[in-house]
Amino acid sequence: MPSDTDTCYEKDASEGQAQAGPRHVAIIMDGNGRWAQARGRPRLFGHHAGAQRVREVVESCPEFGVKYLTIFAFSTENWKRTQVEVSGLMSLFRRYISKEMKALAAQNVRVRFIGDRLRLDAKLVQLMDELEHETEQNDGTHLTIALNYGGRDEVARATKRLAQDVAEGRLRPEDVDEETLPRYLDTHVLPDPDLVIRTSGEARISNFLLWQSAYAEYEFIDTLWPDFTAEELGRLCRKFGSRDRRFGAVKT
Ligand code: FPP
Repeated sequence: MPSDTDTCYEKDASEGQAQAGPRHVAIIMDGNGRWAQARGRPRLFGHHAGAQRVREVVESCPEFGVKYLTIFAFSTENWKRTQVEVSGLMSLFRRYISKEMKALAAQNVRVRFIGDRLRLDAKLVQLMDELEHETEQNDGTHLTIALNYGGRDEVARATKRLAQDVAEGRLRPEDVDEETLPRYLDTHVLPDPDLVIRTSGEARISNFLLWQSAYAEYEFIDTLWPDFTAEELGRLCRKFGSRDRRFGAVKT
């Protein structure tokens, strides 16, 4: 196994306890563009408004028992947008990370990034590294930001590294199973999401956490991301608590 897959998600002490709400919530933050359009403003105005919602949602997680929050900020497909929008988003990410770094660190939030960093500019990657480093001792909410992330791309990158380990004799093909492959995914230190929320009325998963969401519950809600509130997250968490999750088994 390569060194960065050495640590794999392990259940912590609190995990055996019954929890009605979702422990890991993942959000596809959609609808920024339409929110801006409805106000006659450029799409980037919507992304800035969307970025402002992130703080409130992260801060509300402890109240709802959400220990892990993963948000989809930029997909491997989003490069197809106009150059103005892409470079505007990249500069928003840089500013957000610089600005929020201290606030998040002070709130005991642990921040991680998933996705392929190779295509991101060096300054942004440096800020991401710094934020991860700054918060690595924190043990409050685990916030994971998916940036240049695609589920298929992640599985392909993982498979490439797994194949290298097989070729170099560190792993036997017969030992590859459902436990082995996720150790190579970007999310190897995270539990699988329990609840995936997508805002803006679209009912698609758009290449988000494909492997990890095999047994997640989904909520597709009409709210556009810049209008999403902590209150709505609370409502969805309570609704999740009333669901009957069987993971393929039959209840006896
Ligand atoms: C989808 O809305 C949203 C994005 C592609 C970007 C998400 C980014 C943010 C919420 C900004 C901040 C995030 C961080 C972590 C700082 P869309 O543009 O596809 O909306 P539309 O479907 O209405 O066009």
